[in-house]
Amino acid sequence: MPLPDRGLDFGDGLFETLLLRDGAPLFLEYHLARLGGGLRRLGFPDCIARVQQYLEQACTDIASRGWRGCALRLTVTRGGGPRGYTPPEPASPRILVTATHLERDCGTAAAPASLTVSSVRWPTQPLLAGLKHLNRLEQVLASAETRHCGADESVMLDQEGRVISAVAGNIFIASGGQLRTPPLTHCGIAGTRRQLVLERWAPAIGLAVEEAELDLADLVAAEEVFITNSLFALRPVACVDETRWANHRICRTLFHCFLEEIG
Ligand SMILES: Cc1ncc(COP(=O)(O)O)c(C=O)c1O
Repeated sequence: MPLPDRGLDFGDGLFETLLLRDGAPLFLEYHLARLGGGLRRLGFPDCIARVQQYLEQACTDIASRGWRGCALRLTVTRGGGPRGYTPPEPASPRILVTATHLERDCGTAAAPASLTVSSVRWPTQPLLAGLKHLNRLEQVLASAETRHCGADESVMLDQEGRVISAVAGNIFIASGGQLRTPPLTHCGIAGTRRQLVLERWAPAIGLAVEEAELDLADLVAAEEVFITNSLFALRPVACVDETRWANHRICRTLFHCFLEEIG
């Protein structure tokens, strides 16, 4: 990559992690919608057509390798520019694509995850809330802490102690026949699979779902908890510290909605 690059210098960019099955990206329109929204919010020139070209090339290459499962990382930075924070006008975005072969087939449900509560909290920034931007140092710290605790994942709170997400995924709780997930108005990443649960999968099984502020008391009182991201779709939560759940019925039913969509 040519240097300087504002992605490296300031985290001035966005990324997507796409799951490919036999070289075909799953739910591509959701990734492009989030990316497009982020590009507009950061004031990047529209480069979605170029992004799609890069993606098509990468997918063709991956299909020719015969990889069944692949995690494709797509990064868009604002490119180079003069020294200093002020963004160049016009900017020339750079697009990078890297691919990792996945052993696990996404058609197999992930095993229930053990969670702890992270001491690393989300910073508050409504202007960037929802975006998958390149500044992910809270997730880096929280991931190291999760590993140190021997957990699979962690719950991340905001500065006021409200539940926002997992380290690398969104979080849903079920209670009283109702599914709830935190609103992401001041921090968090608006996940593609979260969006699919809200718009398609919960409605498909007639389950009421809403965005609602949640605290740790709501979480531990829930009848069921699961997390979502592109690589495993939906993953049941077995425990958050001492609180355990054996019931993963809703997560499993929604996972079937995912399976039906990917065919
Ligand atoms: C912090 C965070 N929130 C949410 C998500 C879920 O996003 P998606 O469903 O698009 O993978 C991720 C994915 O890695 C994440 O890192």
